[in-house]
Amino acid sequence: MEDFRSRRRFLKSAAALVGSTAAAPLISCSRPATAAPSSLVARPSTLSLPGLEQPVNIWSYDGESAGPLLRFKQGEMLDIRFRNELPQPTSVHWHGIRMPNEMDGVGSVTEPGARPGEEFHYRFAMHDAGLYWYHPHMNSEKQIARGMFGAIVVEEANPPFADREIIWTLFDWGLTAEGQIPEDKAFQLWRGFHDYTAHDIITTNGRTAPDIVLKRGERVRLRIVNCSSNRRYALDFGGHDPWIIAWDSHGVEPQRLGDRPLMVGNGVRVDLMLDGVGDPSVPHVISDVFDHAVYDETAAAEPICAIRYDTARLRPDGELERPRPPARNPFTLPDLTSDPERIPIRMTQDLHEVRDIPDIGGIATLLAAEQGVAPDQKVAVWKLNGQVLFEDLRSFQCINPTPLFECKLGRTYILELANDTPTDHPMHLHGHTFQILSKNGRKLPHPMWRDSFTLIKGDRMEVAFCADNPGDWMVHCHRGLHSHGGMMSIFRVT
Ligand code: C2O
Ligand code: CU
Repeated sequence: MEDFRSRRRFLKSAAALVGSTAAAPLISCSRPATAAPSSLVARPSTLSLPGLEQPVNIWSYDGESAGPLLRFKQGEMLDIRFRNELPQPTSVHWHGIRMPNEMDGVGSVTEPGARPGEEFHYRFAMHDAGLYWYHPHMNSEKQIARGMFGAIVVEEANPPFADREIIWTLFDWGLTAEGQIPEDKAFQLWRGFHDYTAHDIITTNGRTAPDIVLKRGERVRLRIVNCSSNRRYALDFGGHDPWIIAWDSHGVEPQRLGDRPLMVGNGVRVDLMLDGVGDPSVPHVISDVFDHAVYDETAAAEPICAIRYDTARLRPDGELERPRPPARNPFTLPDLTSDPERIPIRMTQDLHEVRDIPDIGGIATLLAAEQGVAPDQKVAVWKLNGQVLFEDLRSFQCINPTPLFECKLGRTYILELANDTPTDHPMHLHGHTFQILSKNGRKLPHPMWRDSFTLIKGDRMEVAFCADNPGDWMVHCHRGLHSHGGMMSIFRVT
């Protein structure tokens, strides 16, 4: 639903990629399902990536990146003892899941955070089915960029029909010339909109995405979560036209993607039905066209993997019907009949003298370094209604968060978001599920339920929700450089 300029074809790079991967072995993109573990350990580890001589030093869950896929049936309990074996505090946030506030895993806001050697016991029911993910919520820009993320699947009692499922945790490894994660992302390394490092390697589930090998007439449920710390994607499906059946875990009226790329902002999930009805004799490449589609017409497409065809046929093409969306999850619907209170939220980028920025644990120095500005120049700070929330970079505590807005338990609110900055922001709100009512003055024809949604430059969006979950909840941009640059706050439900 996130509309972008109409897509272009990228046959040149597509053909090049298919040429190079045509001999790749037949492997499925998905990891084997694992039963949800009862423990999870954050610890340093290593990961081998293609084209690099040395393994990358990463931070991981259980030694892996992506971390273990956690799979539940709807209604089951997540019951995980988490232990921190990293050299700094961390916490686990379960992105998109509605649960009691004290389980939300936001270090210094909903829990103190686990210091090195400490444990935290997470235990809550998975009320809603769908695709979610987990990641740190302390120093999160850096901790996620080091490889800390994993997918969570909560299975529907009665899932929509598909022959199989593929889960993609899309992640972008921004590495130095030495093939390591940079300690500090200084501006000298920043070569583009997402591309601030020497090597920029896209992985799904922690490795180069294997080709998707379809049988003719097969239907694959492709479930994508953008786990990248900063990179957003606009996916072109190489001549395939998948159905979109869910955004952020919640079913939508199924629609074909059509003639534009699929925009997946940070933290966003999307469920597709990819049908094996393409031409097996021509190359198909799934590529990221984000920079091209949003910022720079001359930017090249970046291939992710190819769609190829098996010789086998599963069923005649015409037998694949319009898919059914997953059933609605049991969250409280907003009551739009009662003239809900409206809360404007204006997103801005303001320039400040470095010396005027409160130097909370070194944030001013870091922002200046990231933006390549001298101490006597101005740095950009990202704001929500003129306010910022910084995390102290020594203690990783959010210092005295002031609520951006306050809600009475059980009431419906309409947020009026306005992006008055020069760039896009995937906004995320914790603990609740939101209905997008309108975008740029146009009402949505069908309801759409989200917890993360992108506003590009100039966008206006109205979202409604019922404040049915008490506590202090985060609201922030999910681009790491923006959230630690100030575009974070809390909202309070009492
Ligand atoms: Cu995915 Cu506040 O987080
Ligand atoms: Cu942002």
